Amino acid sequence: MFSVQIEKPFSAEHESLIIGLFEKPAKFEGQLLELDQAFAGGLTELVKDGDISARKKKLSKIHTMGKMAVKRLYFVGLGKEAALSFEALRGIFGAVVKKIKEEKHEEAAVYLDSFITEKVGALDAAHALGEALALAAYRFEGYKQKSNEPEKNINHITVYTEAADEEEAMAALTVGYVYGNATNSARTLVNLPGNLLTAADLAEYAKELGAKYDFEVEILEKEDMLKLGMGALLAVNQGSSEPPKMIVLKYQAKEEWKDVIGLVGKGITFDTGGYSLKTKTGIVGMKTDMGGAAAVLGAMEIIGELKPEQNVVAVIPATDNMIGGHALKPDDVITSLSGKTIEVLNTDAEGRLVLADAMTYAKHHGANYLVDAATLTGGVITALGTETTGALTNNEAWFEQVLEASFEAGEPIWRLPLFERDKERVRNSKIADLNNSPGSEGHAIMGGAFIGEFAEDTPWVHLDIAGTAVRKNANDLGPAGATGVMVRTLALLVERFETEE
Ligand code: BES
Ligand code: MN
Ligand code: ZN
Repeated sequence: MFSVQIEKPFSAEHESLIIGLFEKPAKFEGQLLELDQAFAGGLTELVKDGDISARKKKLSKIHTMGKMAVKRLYFVGLGKEAALSFEALRGIFGAVVKKIKEEKHEEAAVYLDSFITEKVGALDAAHALGEALALAAYRFEGYKQKSNEPEKNINHITVYTEAADEEEAMAALTVGYVYGNATNSARTLVNLPGNLLTAADLAEYAKELGAKYDFEVEILEKEDMLKLGMGALLAVNQGSSEPPKMIVLKYQAKEEWKDVIGLVGKGITFDTGGYSLKTKTGIVGMKTDMGGAAAVLGAMEIIGELKPEQNVVAVIPATDNMIGGHALKPDDVITSLSGKTIEVLNTDAEGRLVLADAMTYAKHHGANYLVDAATLTGGVITALGTETTGALTNNEAWFEQVLEASFEAGEPIWRLPLFERDKERVRNSKIADLNNSPGSEGHAIMGGAFIGEFAEDTPWVHLDIAGTAVRKNANDLGPAGATGVMVRTLALLVERFETEE
């Protein structure tokens, strides 16, 4: 996919050469001076006339008409140098990738050194490019009989740089590409309809991932759950004709199984709401209710590829949430794996039920640090919208680590409060230890508060991705539909993890 060259970019044959231009105002200097000279100062003229623009994200295509070995030049406006962030650059590369794809070119070269600033170095830029290449080219095939002509994808990128070591630049590109591709895997899982991605299918996918990367795989069947007393996951599955699965992947990189990070992902393959049935409009789109599971599996793909020196256990409770003669009902009381009893007030608050058992099971597997990712509440969309993931925690220092990772990944999260008085509301039941739905006031907090009861004293961060797992409109880094949100944050969290002793 990639090659890195240190020599000058203008003498080799390429379909396209991509060059960044800063507004300062746009000037051709250094290597670019040579380029301008090849056109007898013509490029400078084009800038003056406004045919080449350095305005942020503006693309200007110039055909070289045989004056150079490169067929066309794409100038990419980068705006003001000091204002360019890693995230912005990744978006800009995404826009470029989309354009090249649209124009059906399969090969291109990038003059990397024209994109770097004091803040965003050559290796950052290479990582951003690698990520953008995968993310921006993503498409979900779908099931139309008459599919459009097969899409042309970029299959080779040559990167020219003198600002970084060849091997290091290659590694940064590849790591970025791994991050992007794993995010795409998660997107596909989320985009798959509920009839084509059941709990069993999700388990099968996890098994294959485990075989590929040599993870230890454990899939609990219904009978195992009955023996263990996983009453909460079983309760949600009661109305379904699809068997539930508790999916566990273990990645051990340290000699001892300690300092274990537990990644827990909500795997509801379709959420009807159960007897607290969703409305005919609210139910559409509920195939995406396994976005947390997809985020965890995507992160495990990165972990499998890059093999960081950490111990990780991934736990995914998988089932759909259906109605039927055997289904869970409001007022039912169930017993979770932890022993805690739960009064079910709302069968549509099913995510917290399956996650309750998953959290306890992650602890049984030795997790000492927990993160759960879940499309848990409509309330988080009301509170934070669709660009920011909601977070809750019981541990400041662990939250800091998650926050850092999310910054680096460019996946914003925002913390909601969790006070004792909030916890009291989920503990308020006349006949059980907990209730699963204390009412709609602050219900994103209630969802997290409930899950927190099962983290107990283990450092834990809850990520509510109900608003961020899917987007209505395409952006520079992908189409409308699943975003693959939190894949990169979770993987970075594992890569950068520091134990708190
Ligand atoms: N899967 C939903 C949350 C959701 C809503 C995800 C919209 C994506 C978009 C979850 O299981 C749910 O139904 N939550 C309820 C909780 C309530 C019953 C306490 C909700 O948000 O209304
Ligand atoms: Mn629900
Ligand atoms: Zn749900």
